[in-house]
Amino acid sequence: MTYVVTENCIKCKFQDCVEVCPVDCFYEGENFLAINPDECIDCGVCEPECPAEAIIADTEDGAEPWIEINRTLAEKWPNITVKGDAPGDADDWNGRAGKRELLSEKPAAT
Ligand code: SF4
Ligand code: F3S
Repeated sequence: MTYVVTENCIKCKFQDCVEVCPVDCFYEGENFLAINPDECIDCGVCEPECPAEAIIADTEDGAEPWIEINRTLAEKWPNITVKGDAPGDADDWNGRAGKRELLSEKPAAT
């Protein structure tokens, strides 16, 4: 079992999650963060930290497609352990429907 980041992280990317992860298994893309499911120890600490409620256990409804997305993107992206600034319009995107198609597969700009 693992936790996964889901659609509502897209364009919100608040990053509160990365500060609490004991095994540093978050990876940063341009507008989304991914959890490496092979590194996640299923502690659940990050779930309540996300202001967008975007982190769920892989056993929850709707998690299934996100497991592979998190795995694939985590392999391509750089590790992130320190919270950076959220996008300036993050609050405007929080809770919006239809963000899936806006997910960028590009790594975060360094
Ligand atoms: Fe990290 Fe725990 Fe969240 Fe997994 S569940 S990503 S180990 S904080
Ligand atoms: Fe995304 Fe929530 Fe973390 S919006 S970056 S999963 S705190």
